[in-house]
Amino acid sequence: MSNAVQTHSNDTFKKRVFSGIQPSGGLTLGNYLGAVKRFVQMQQEDYETIYCMVDLHAITTWQDPKKLKHNTRELAAFFIASGIDPDKSILFNQSGVSAHVELGWVFNCVARMGWMKRMTQFKDKAGKNAENASLGLFGYPALMAADILVYHATHVPVGDDQKQHLELTRDIAAKFNHDFGVDFFPMIEPVIGGPAARVMSLRDGSKKMSKSDPSDLSRINMGDDADTIAQKFRKAKTDPDALPSEEVGLEGRAEAKNLISIYAALGDQGVSDILSDVGGKQFSEFKPMLVERAVEKLSPISQEMARLMEDTSEIDRVLAKGVEKATAIAIPVLKETYEIVGILQP
Ligand code: TRP
Repeated sequence: MSNAVQTHSNDTFKKRVFSGIQPSGGLTLGNYLGAVKRFVQMQQEDYETIYCMVDLHAITTWQDPKKLKHNTRELAAFFIASGIDPDKSILFNQSGVSAHVELGWVFNCVARMGWMKRMTQFKDKAGKNAENASLGLFGYPALMAADILVYHATHVPVGDDQKQHLELTRDIAAKFNHDFGVDFFPMIEPVIGGPAARVMSLRDGSKKMSKSDPSDLSRINMGDDADTIAQKFRKAKTDPDALPSEEVGLEGRAEAKNLISIYAALGDQGVSDILSDVGGKQFSEFKPMLVERAVEKLSPISQEMARLMEDTSEIDRVLAKGVEKATAIAIPVLKETYEIVGILQP
């Protein structure tokens, strides 16, 4: 390898999307409308798209070894069933491409303790007993920066809870470029929010829909059958008023807003278009419409997931191919990084 270090100016970077989801089990409508639906849209647009099951991030908190493989395959099934096409996107699991961890180490040496200590997600996840959190959980955002930058990705679709991590990714890229006097890593563009940026709990419109909520009625799981979906929406919390015909009328009505956003996002429509149709209706009339649309959109996805999980060899083949394609992009970036840092590569 020559000693000449290649540099780039930001507009020479290819439009490339990277995003990741942790295979920590329990996929909800929030994962679909808040993330994967957007991933599918971006695959249709003018981007090269790379989607990753971030298993090494998952183990920053305890994962049952008996479930992790299953959860990883199930997440892959969810991606594929939702419309991620392995011929158009690169789909793989993070641990398959060891360049993530290697670049992650370099970034551990770029990121400052002070930056990491400001990460609110660490504080939230570590809770009161931060001394007992894993070192991996603390370093999580530096590995996340490596996930993205090892592909020189330019656009990163995520939920708004990941905004701070993407700012850190930019800080790491800028410090690396500055410290080594190169223009090597791109300044990524966050793409925040999905068709329904935040899907909220069906029991409490002020809380995010979550797989860890003790009440199963609070969420739609990606495997729920039609009856379960119907029952959960029927029991979903609402208020006594009729639906408004304009968006301002949703202010202060978190549950109404959530159900309308879900309905709109499932049908690729805007909230104001929906309200001009359903304004004036009672929830008793609207909820069956919501159930019908949710079942129509979600059943084919759960059926396809079930089919893929019956014989997992197809999933494993897709992921092996994804690892191969991802490696082909990541290795040259890693090698160039080592070159810039002055690491001997005999
Ligand atoms: N931290 C992200 C989340 O919890 C998952 C993630 C890991 C990710 N690496 C990433 C997202 C890289 C986008 C890009 O949602």
